[in-house]
Amino acid sequence: PAVEYELEAPFSVEYHDSVGSTNDRARELATEGAADAAVLADEQVGGRGRLEREWAAPSGGVWLSVVSRPAIAPAKAPLYTLAASVATARAAREAGVDARIKWPNDVVVPVGDDGDYRKLAGILTEMEGETDRVEWLVVGIGVNANIEADALPDGATSVREQAGDVDRRRFVQRLLEEFDRYRSDLEGVVPAWRELALTLGQQVRVDRRAGEIVGEAVDVTESGALVVETDDGRVTVAAGDCEHLRPV
Ligand code: BTN
Repeated sequence: PAVEYELEAPFSVEYHDSVGSTNDRARELATEGAADAAVLADEQVGGRGRLEREWAAPSGGVWLSVVSRPAIAPAKAPLYTLAASVATARAAREAGVDARIKWPNDVVVPVGDDGDYRKLAGILTEMEGETDRVEWLVVGIGVNANIEADALPDGATSVREQAGDVDRRRFVQRLLEEFDRYRSDLEGVVPAWRELALTLGQQVRVDRRAGEIVGEAVDVTESGALVVETDDGRVTVAAGDCEHLRPV
């Protein structure tokens, strides 16, 4: 059963010890008309990642989904995802983790100086609406918080492994406060994102639906797309068109 989770954050939070996917529960709430609501779970048994992948979500993590009903065009929705990555990276940094952002929205911890990293958190945004207007957005945020290293997927890390256990109530409160702040300051999202970006300045290989490109990641546009300088000129990649990005 769900219980109310008391926070001083500007969201009502429904808490579950165990749930299928917090995004699925948040989608139900959104369909019922909820606004400024969040769903939090200690464990998910059907966690979902981007590109229809499974997302491992054992007990001890921060598995969170936030419902918003913003008066924006769907083209601006990626800014909500970037805002969530900024909020998550800041909360993790306050917990003592050297968290950075890999475009578009993975929160990672750098390993060495050659652009390598391990993944701390991922974000899955889903929306409903018309071509010119968003009806609701569900931003799902999965943070490997108090999880033992041997329970993590390959290439992942946790707050526990990096800095010791975090007070999850405080972590979620800080994350939601920062997310709310950027929701109402969408123009501030990209500048804040740039400050935490691991990707900018890197040589990257991007697998897109339209084919692979290789070049230097030089900037992020106002709507959150990545600009890559290739031998054939500048190419702009929208987050939704990116299947995989890795440093080369
Ligand atoms: C990714 O990097 O592929 C995105 C992972 C998103 C995981 C979170 S955990 C909370 C929310 N509920 C889900 O089922 N998925 C998201």
